[in-house]
Amino acid sequence: MRILLDKFTKKFSDLTVIDEMDLEVRDGEMIALLGGSGCGKSTTLFSICGIHKVNGGRILFGDKDVTNVTSQERNVGVVFQSFALYPHLTVENNIGFPLKLRKESKAEIKRKVDEIAEMVHIEPLLQRRPGELSGGQQQRVALARALIRRPDVLLLDEPLANLDATLRLEMRSEIRRIQQETGITAVLVTHDQVEAMSMCDRIAIMDAGKIIQIAKPRDMYENPVSDYVAGFLGSPPIAFLTGQVQDGNFVEPSTGTKMPLSAEIAASQSGRQVKVGIRPEYFQPDGATKIAGTVSFMESQGRETLYNVTLPDGSILRSIQGVHDPVHIGDRVEWGVDSAEMMVFDMNGLRL
Ligand SMILES: Nc1ncnc2c1ncn2[C@@H]1O[C@H](COP(=O)(O)OP(=O)(O)O)[C@@H](O)[C@H]1O
Ligand SMILES: [Mg+2]
Repeated sequence: MRILLDKFTKKFSDLTVIDEMDLEVRDGEMIALLGGSGCGKSTTLFSICGIHKVNGGRILFGDKDVTNVTSQERNVGVVFQSFALYPHLTVENNIGFPLKLRKESKAEIKRKVDEIAEMVHIEPLLQRRPGELSGGQQQRVALARALIRRPDVLLLDEPLANLDATLRLEMRSEIRRIQQETGITAVLVTHDQVEAMSMCDRIAIMDAGKIIQIAKPRDMYENPVSDYVAGFLGSPPIAFLTGQVQDGNFVEPSTGTKMPLSAEIAASQSGRQVKVGIRPEYFQPDGATKIAGTVSFMESQGRETLYNVTLPDGSILRSIQGVHDPVHIGDRVEWGVDSAEMMVFDMNGLRL
């Protein structure tokens, strides 16, 4: 079921949290609302869900305008960060609860609970209570309860935030599997770029109540519209250098390094200050344009090592590399970047 937000606006008294947002989630698509804390992700999700009344614009499910339809009547499945299971009920009764409210027969509820329990892999747990389950198992129960009414849309608000790292990894792929198996249209709210990149068809990145860019994960990573988006995606993050455009080059002020720019940017920005963004995977010993600095930080990430290289003016480049000749903190290194891999931004942060 397609979800359409049409100039959707949400205020809390005189604070406008979302101002005329447009968003289309296609039928069967899973989209991430990604952004920092307080940017309006949950507010958007709660409005789609019907928990919040909107102050302007429309919300459509398919062709139906649901803007003034109650949450119960919207047929949405919701999973919150806190799972919100009933502690005194068994898993079976937790999952079947929405059907009991609808007064479906016991036999029918049992059949549907068994079916959904099989899908989320919790059949052996049906007679336990939530307190007797691990975090990941509770998350599966919450998902099963959200899905049992066969909702038209699935809304997930930071569903993995309370899980430890291993479980988070497991549940990332599990939620995606279940979403794809059911073909349900889903919106995932998260502040975690890895979750958004790994679980969703497209990412809508938000800042201060606005969608800044919406794109497939890889496209957004390779073609961010701004330094904000570039900095949000990628771990370890992209590093930025500020310098001047002179004679076709970006000139890094503290080392005097000249990095060639495209003819177009060189012409339009001649004499201006710009920011150059370099991702850690592209700042490497064999990179073409060398830039010298001092290794100021190292962190082994198992297969790869992350290095910070500090330039004379204190700006930092990051590099992530596999095993090679030993490098130590305090060593002077001359690593490089290929100009095709540099992203150039104006001083307002817009991609050039
Ligand atoms: N019920 C509410 N009453 C007043 N302000 C709220 C309410 N819910 C959220 N806000 C405000 O709206 C903004 C966005 O909040 P929220 O959507 O929860 O952000 P996010 O989920 O992206 O962290 C914040 O400034 C928050 O303080
Ligand atoms: Mg939130």
